[in-house]
Amino acid sequence: MAKKKFYVTTPIYYVNDVPHIGHSYTTIIADILARWHKMLGEDVFFLTGTDEHGIKIQQSAEKSKKKPQEFVDNIVDSYKKAWQALNIQYDNFIRTTDPDHIKAVQKVLQELYDKKLIYKGKYEACYCAGCEQYKLKSELEDGKCPLHKKEVEIRKEEAYLFRLSKFQNELRKLIETDKYQIVPKERKNEILSFLTKEKLQDISISRPKEEVYWAIELPFDKKHTCYVWVDAFLNYITGIGWPDGKFKDYWPADVQLMSKDILRVHATIWPAILLALDLELPKKLFIHGFFTANGLKISKSLGNAIDPIALVDKYNSDVVRYFIIRHIPLGQDGDFSEEALKERHNGELANKLGNLVSRIAGLCKEKIPKGTIDSDLAGKLKFTEICSHINHIELDKSLAEIFSFIDACNEYVQEKHPWNLEGKEKDDVLYSLVDSMRIISILLSPFIPFTSERINDQFNFAKPEIKNAVFGKTKSGKIKKGEILFEKIE
Ligand code: MSP
Repeated sequence: MAKKKFYVTTPIYYVNDVPHIGHSYTTIIADILARWHKMLGEDVFFLTGTDEHGIKIQQSAEKSKKKPQEFVDNIVDSYKKAWQALNIQYDNFIRTTDPDHIKAVQKVLQELYDKKLIYKGKYEACYCAGCEQYKLKSELEDGKCPLHKKEVEIRKEEAYLFRLSKFQNELRKLIETDKYQIVPKERKNEILSFLTKEKLQDISISRPKEEVYWAIELPFDKKHTCYVWVDAFLNYITGIGWPDGKFKDYWPADVQLMSKDILRVHATIWPAILLALDLELPKKLFIHGFFTANGLKISKSLGNAIDPIALVDKYNSDVVRYFIIRHIPLGQDGDFSEEALKERHNGELANKLGNLVSRIAGLCKEKIPKGTIDSDLAGKLKFTEICSHINHIELDKSLAEIFSFIDACNEYVQEKHPWNLEGKEKDDVLYSLVDSMRIISILLSPFIPFTSERINDQFNFAKPEIKNAVFGKTKSGKIKKGEILFEKIE
């Protein structure tokens, strides 16, 4: 039987500056989902990458007195380094400056032009270069973009327009009926209310080349270049080789991750382009919240960015991955603080998980005994709930459940006093603990893969697979001496 496929994407990030903890958040969520679905035995594809064209990048390159290509190459490296540091295992890193991507974008533009869904006209609108997005007057605060706190520019120019207005009713129906699913519900409702109140206007998909030269040329008019968002959206299909390659195997995407800043365009322009191309829509958009610093969105433009590589150097990738996912309920906003990271490191990773591993290894005295699992302890693992939380991308909740079971195991040690027991009674208690540890390690492996590998190596557990996350499968054998998993931070 063919394997079930799972295709997950992150937004492609702007390369006007280096990555920060906000980009890491989305990318870590994607990595955890990809690893989880691999553990389920599915055929997984995880796409991430960089958005390298447009006025914002062009101006950043000019400011730093570099040629745009040289400028973007440098920053792309810092994204790749950050993902390596965070142990992110993507299947493709797409760059919108890749020649294959450019060719495919031009093919799409030509197709839409031939179908008369792109036409020449006049365009007047407010534009925020920080967002690279047109803004409605009603969205502005004192004439400024609420996200970038900067005045918008008024643009009035001859341009090529995409017939977005034609798709309004169809889009509303698809979203309403969850054929194009937007989660959490509040985000779906927000978009539905927008699509009910506002009339979608046709949008400009071009800029005069003399103004924005760092962009893809329109194939049917070389004096104009392509609007960066149209170029960017298409990465989700060109990154799997549209119209050929792996596209047939993986499209439509199962989950597209992003934060609320770019939901509106993903709920309007993106699906409209797909409908215009007669392609299926992604199954689900999952919208997470913002990491903030003192209540403000962490962003390069606001100058409050936190460097993920520096954090990994200081703590290690698993600690950063764990904290980022556990700290804020997925879907909500939350403040980043190193103090909170240290607290969770000491209180949860070191005191609960690290302690349990070293206690079990110590009590077993280098040998996993033969024994039978205590069904009372096994009953405390909420396996179905953990899987269901991951399926609903409530990763913080699944971690909380796994850690409740870690608590149950620590309490079990306290209750049973295995050091006072002997014979079969002792073996059963120790076996139950080791077997539980094996399952904990499987469940944690998508979240904190290095730690899970260290535990598996110490106890000689097999490669983690969900089908083995059932009690009673631990084989007796040797336990190696292990290092402390998490040294307490003072
Ligand atoms: N290039 C566009 C996306 C094109 S996708 C077809 C873009 N890039 S971005 O660099 O600004 O990245 C935005 C995304 O980065 C957000 O949607 C989110 O996934 C992530 N985040 C950036 N800052 C964030 C926070 N402060 N908090 C959480 N996520 C954040 O928009």
